[in-house]
Amino acid sequence: MYRASHDLYARCAMNKQDTVKLLLKNKSKIPQQASAKAFAPVNIALCKYWGKRNQELNLPLTSSLSISLGTKGTTTEILCIDSYQDEITLNQQPIAASDDFSKKLSAFLNLFRDGKQCFRIDTVNTVPVAAGLASSASGFAALVLALDQLFQWQCTPQELSILARLGSGSACRSLWQGFVEWQQGQREDGLDSHGVPITIQWPQLCIGLLIMSSDKKAVSSREAMEITRQTSILYRAWPEQVAHDLVLIKNAITQQNFVALGCAAENNALAMHATMLAANPAICYSQPQTLTAMQQIWQLRQQGLAIYFTQDAGPNLKLLFQRKDLETVKNSFPALDVCEI
Ligand code: PMV
Repeated sequence: MYRASHDLYARCAMNKQDTVKLLLKNKSKIPQQASAKAFAPVNIALCKYWGKRNQELNLPLTSSLSISLGTKGTTTEILCIDSYQDEITLNQQPIAASDDFSKKLSAFLNLFRDGKQCFRIDTVNTVPVAAGLASSASGFAALVLALDQLFQWQCTPQELSILARLGSGSACRSLWQGFVEWQQGQREDGLDSHGVPITIQWPQLCIGLLIMSSDKKAVSSREAMEITRQTSILYRAWPEQVAHDLVLIKNAITQQNFVALGCAAENNALAMHATMLAANPAICYSQPQTLTAMQQIWQLRQQGLAIYFTQDAGPNLKLLFQRKDLETVKNSFPALDVCEI
């Protein structure tokens, strides 16, 4: 069995509470207002994050780069309540305290609250529930933005990115719209591992969600990336693949070279899934419909249409194309949900 030498990092003693102490040293632990509300967008990685050097702090083994999806994301309202436990709703539905979703949120809130303060958290996702999009990224980003208001920390977006990372790795990229690079950082405490916005607009670029299945995934991304890191021989090549793709993707963004961006993003996603197929046990997020859609995209490309895809920890594809081709793409994929970015 292949074991990465980076296991050393995973044994570091730092925990989430230490990061919070470092970042919020002289800041209030008492809410400064009764409630706060914030929105954060979903982000789609063009160069993926897959594998951690520190599981506790969600520190990645490589950098990654994403684009945020405009108005698709999460709005979270937090209210101080007089109760013995947190009250949590998701899309207007109450979620039991015993549910994993509530447990994860309450554990995250424990990092920040003092004493017995309880909260009501109302989370609304504007991403279709069936989309299989990682709403945990926008969810944790919206929550830290709301907490920043509630406690009046006045943190910088970079500091909030670090706090969001503690909830879910990719959440650190959801603090901004547009392109964001998550710089992996080197420090053991993770204070240099956060999102950095790339302030380049690309109005011609379009992203569409091709939803083929809304089944809950059998293996979480947290679990899948760890199995891959530990057992896949192909994972040895992953850091090199990412280093190469990041250069290609950043250059493509600077030069607004769509074909270069699409090629690199699609290749990066397929390489990530290849590392998973070579894991033991194998992890395969694709369904037959996923492969059919891939074939259709490759066929359209052969016919001259510049269209590419990327795929995350699920069977659905995200299509990349240019605004000028919107009508042609919609004709080929009538169910496509086109995002404003
Ligand atoms: O941050 P997590 O644990 O939800 O993992 C995200 C993993 C991918 O979506 C597959 C890749 C990425 O960079 O977003």
